[in-house]
Amino acid sequence: MKGIIFDLDGVLVFTDKFHYRAWKAIADDMGIYFDEKINNRLRGVSRMDSLEIILERYEGKLLTMAEKVSLAEKKNQIYRELLRTMTPEDVSEEVRDTLKKLHVDGFKLAIGSSSKNTKFILEKVELIDAFDAVSDGTNITRSKPDPEVFQKAAKYLRVAPEECAVVEDAFAGIDAAKSGGMYAIGIGEASKYEKADAHIEEFAELTEILEK
Ligand code: G6P
Ligand code: MG
Repeated sequence: MKGIIFDLDGVLVFTDKFHYRAWKAIADDMGIYFDEKINNRLRGVSRMDSLEIILERYEGKLLTMAEKVSLAEKKNQIYRELLRTMTPEDVSEEVRDTLKKLHVDGFKLAIGSSSKNTKFILEKVELIDAFDAVSDGTNITRSKPDPEVFQKAAKYLRVAPEECAVVEDAFAGIDAAKSGGMYAIGIGEASKYEKADAHIEEFAELTEILEK
């Protein structure tokens, strides 16, 4: 392996709880049932696709595209307010140390996230300098499980997909890595996903897996 591509939400930072709170506010407002289990389906999925999943339980009138865009914008405003509370302490020492170690060992590191808030988050937690490249929701047209975000990350790193490992907490992200021809490492929710090539419980285990 020469390149490592990291998902952001749920791997490096735990913004999932903010996504949940923001979507929950929108769902409650519209009388839509929404819980943590449904929230899990939103991992790695773009903002508009996430809205469609939430609207599966909506019993009101058919919404226009403009109404949907406005709902997604409203969710993002709530989410961004929550993100503003983030500080460098929201990234664990374990994550920072492991990233440094991998870099020193010669791996090229990239972010591969569906989030359009990626750069904002990386700046808030002061992690932006830890990566050689960032591929995120602002440079893709198809969200995970499509491999586009990882393929672009590999391209920015100038590493062939077969020489890239992807670290993911989302099932959709593992599927994306596999269909892009990459080695998929599952962590968190995806640590039990059978389609992943390797499974880890702790972030620091990455050094053992990748330095073999
Ligand atoms: C990540 C998260 C998803 C989120 C997506 C888009 O992949 O796991 O839950 O929907 O990013 O995030 P955004 O910040 O652009 O709304
Ligand atoms: Mg994730």
